[in-house]
Amino acid sequence: MKTILGIDIGTSGTKTILTDENGRVLASYTEEYPMYQPHNGWAEQNPEDWFLAVKTGIKAVITAAKRENANVSAPIAIGMSGQMHGLVMTDKDGEVLRPSIIWCDQRTEAEIEDMDRIVGRQKIIEITANAPMTGFTAAKILWVRKNEPEIYEKCAHILLPKDYIRYKLTGEYATEVSDASGMQLMDVSSRTWSDELLGLLNIDKNLLANIYESPDVTGKILPSLAAETGADADAIVVGGAADNAAAAIGTGVFSEGTAFTTIGSSAVIYAVSDEVRIDLKGRVHSLCASVPGKWTVMSCTQGAGLSLKWLRDTICTEEKRLEAETGRDAYDIMSELALKIPEGSDRLLFLPYLMGERSPHPDPDARGVFFGLSAIHTRANMIRSVMEGVAFSQLECLNVFREMGVSVGNMVITGGGGKSPFWRQMLADLYECPVHTLAHDEGAAMGAAILASIGAGIFKDASEACENIVQIGSTLEPIEGHTKAYKPYFELYSELYQTLTGEFKKLSAL
Ligand code: XUL
Repeated sequence: MKTILGIDIGTSGTKTILTDENGRVLASYTEEYPMYQPHNGWAEQNPEDWFLAVKTGIKAVITAAKRENANVSAPIAIGMSGQMHGLVMTDKDGEVLRPSIIWCDQRTEAEIEDMDRIVGRQKIIEITANAPMTGFTAAKILWVRKNEPEIYEKCAHILLPKDYIRYKLTGEYATEVSDASGMQLMDVSSRTWSDELLGLLNIDKNLLANIYESPDVTGKILPSLAAETGADADAIVVGGAADNAAAAIGTGVFSEGTAFTTIGSSAVIYAVSDEVRIDLKGRVHSLCASVPGKWTVMSCTQGAGLSLKWLRDTICTEEKRLEAETGRDAYDIMSELALKIPEGSDRLLFLPYLMGERSPHPDPDARGVFFGLSAIHTRANMIRSVMEGVAFSQLECLNVFREMGVSVGNMVITGGGGKSPFWRQMLADLYECPVHTLAHDEGAAMGAAILASIGAGIFKDASEACENIVQIGSTLEPIEGHTKAYKPYFELYSELYQTLTGEFKKLSAL
């Protein structure tokens, strides 16, 4: 039986799946690793942790699948997806020069001002389809050049997280359009590096990898890695995609008019478009999709699952204790508590800006807020208001999509947070449209495996692959009473960021 690998290099861990030719999952394995926050608003990871997790994952899924079925043969194609916007710098021998500055790091406010001054905001939007973003890779490159010149001096290759892993697996320096467009160095319309922008920012194009389309073959696994992991000696590695662009394929979102929401560490709404559509206010992103000839409008709430994880780890110690004692997931216990609280959490609101914010408020200084905390409130109120705050943020983003003329009448929900029926119902009530789950939800890892199948010639394109593989599971319809009950809280929630913008700046200056 021919097999395919799909590998998603995420923030909390790397998920590896092995599928057969029809996208049936034969084995799945997740390996976790830490994120480091050396300062308030900074976020780094160790690229070697990702590589170890990838090797362990490949070995684990091949061994598990072979144990089940002796006919399983070594994987012939590998697709990778990865957390976006991260900066990996290596020297000329491919050795990592410093920890990776990852997507949710917000240290680059001064570099955004530099980009505005040197290039001009309007020109950056014209070329890259996005307003200058603290979270995107370009600003991080400028930060290293300014603050760690000795590192920049030695830097020979600039890579995104999954593209560093590609280099380790194949020896090739390559990237693909969906992830590369999140670096803010591409001409997003023509799907190539922008010579003009690179010239203005004085970044040498030779530091950057060659750009492919997502299903294209970018190289073959190195013999030593094939031997070590058990992959086929001729296994191809395709371009793959940014995690969200891969999740799009994994959820069947590949044509104009389709969209999904994912709640992982971040929360993203992703809609496909036949042309580049830009929000001039920079509230949402415009990027290349993992489908050749398509683009995407995408929002990113930086602290979604991350906010609930923070609450679990700092406040919900009782639920964590119960998890250790009974084996029940702490998040399920937390959801049950929240369900007993009415819409609006008894007048407690949460702004989910624990890692600053991008959509719809690009503001590295924004920070989390509980608003309206009273002595009557319990942990249950706090859990519900965190979940509501994340969901309110999605509605604010979706309203921007709707303002831009991107119509969304149906939404697939995926990611860890999407497993909670309670959170999904909240999203249906706020979006006022049906939300669907998938029958088999493997998220970005499945999208990566599908792209690898296309690269291996098993399917012609995303449309044919998704038709064969992706199936809708359950559907939740909005409940009118809930929608009505949320409305005044959502309005107040939306006002709070506007009211606090200046105060966030003051706090950050302290
Ligand atoms: C999207 C973004 C996040 C990361 C998380 O712009 O930054 O969704 O890709 O992995």
